Amino acid sequence: MNNRILLAVCGGIAAYKAAELTRLLRKKNVEVQVVMTESATQFVSALTFQALSGNPVQTRLLDEYEEQAMGHIHLARWASSIVIAPATANMIAKLSYGLADDLVSTLCLAATCPIYVAPAMNQAMWHNPVTQENIARLKQRGISMIDPEQGEQACGETGIGRMAEPASICARLIGDKPYLMPQTNVDSTQKTRGILEGVKVLISAGPTREPLDPVRYITNRSSGKMGYALAEAALQAGASVTLVTGVVNLKAPAAAEVVQVETAEQMYHAVTSRAQEHNIYIGAAAVADYAPVQIKEQKIKTQAHESTIILQKTKDILAAVALLPHRPFVVGFAAETHDLAVYAKGKLVRKKLDMIAANWVGKEQGGFDRDENSLHVFWHDGDKVLPMTSKTQLAQQLIALISKRMNEKMAAKIAL
Ligand code: CTP
Repeated sequence: MNNRILLAVCGGIAAYKAAELTRLLRKKNVEVQVVMTESATQFVSALTFQALSGNPVQTRLLDEYEEQAMGHIHLARWASSIVIAPATANMIAKLSYGLADDLVSTLCLAATCPIYVAPAMNQAMWHNPVTQENIARLKQRGISMIDPEQGEQACGETGIGRMAEPASICARLIGDKPYLMPQTNVDSTQKTRGILEGVKVLISAGPTREPLDPVRYITNRSSGKMGYALAEAALQAGASVTLVTGVVNLKAPAAAEVVQVETAEQMYHAVTSRAQEHNIYIGAAAVADYAPVQIKEQKIKTQAHESTIILQKTKDILAAVALLPHRPFVVGFAAETHDLAVYAKGKLVRKKLDMIAANWVGKEQGGFDRDENSLHVFWHDGDKVLPMTSKTQLAQQLIALISKRMNEKMAAKIAL
């Protein structure tokens, strides 16, 4: 039970959001102890956090009084988890190299409990390969990232780097609602309201972009419409929804938690780090199967008559989610130009999916960047055709089918 959270606040404008996070955690009856870096105190005073948490706030590694009352080792042992929010690029770099030159980095090095990191920084700092390498290293060590969001930044620039909203950080830390098996057993053509009440759904949507140089990238024709319609349908069905999205021209449903990504690698991390906290994963994104081996730092100049790009395979997100120890119910998509049933069933088995929704592309039947589509859905001992209709309707039918199949799977497990 995550009921003793150590909140580490670093120096950045997002520090004010950490005050709201403290308030939300306290409202959920979580005990909160706050530690701050020296620079964080320039943004929000320790007194604010003391008042909100009801506990004294520590800011220095070697503080005579604090060391006597509760040394940093004790504080690290006290916590059921640690969250660094906001985490600056500097703090992320320190953690990645195991430095321990202030209270926050020392606590993290001494900690044995789960650590969550909610970065906040300028978008160029976020995209800097050094920061991305540091983040990858932290993830490899099992530290959970609460990814920053896309939007306008305090510095006036726009991009990824804004700290996740306090409500979503709070939900991530303690929000694991127990999964309640819906009682309604509906057919896919019936109304879906309430059938996923209490269920957490993770959806990936849209295309990925694989950069070649600062101005060019490889992508595909996916519009994201199906994934976004599924997010809307899952919300209508009562689920809480996390939408991991590539760059698209659509407005995300307001009630969904949105995680903006660009590349297949970013989508892999965004999805796999969250999948085990969800009951259902729907991989509706058109993930690039290959990405350039090298991303040139400078624009590639026109020279030879012919040019070659060397590509390497990306990680299969869907297959990786299906292999997780606490895997959700996993639903894949397959876009095919020929032999649809053969390929779709092959992917269902090879990627160890619970269900796959296949559609034709490049044919009259529908496909990318259209408002209508039809699907042929397969699972291990059955299949169903969802005929041509609007993507909104189709998404509702697919959500109903997923709910029904998931219930059947759970009922079969209980019966064993
Ligand atoms: N997918 C994924 N990660 C990848 C590639 C694909 O999660 N790196 C997911 C897609 O989101 C989709 C499903 O896998 O749900 C099917 O994608 P597709 O590209 O059709 O499958 P492949 O196995 O790559 O087969 P194909 O040879 O048809 O490209």
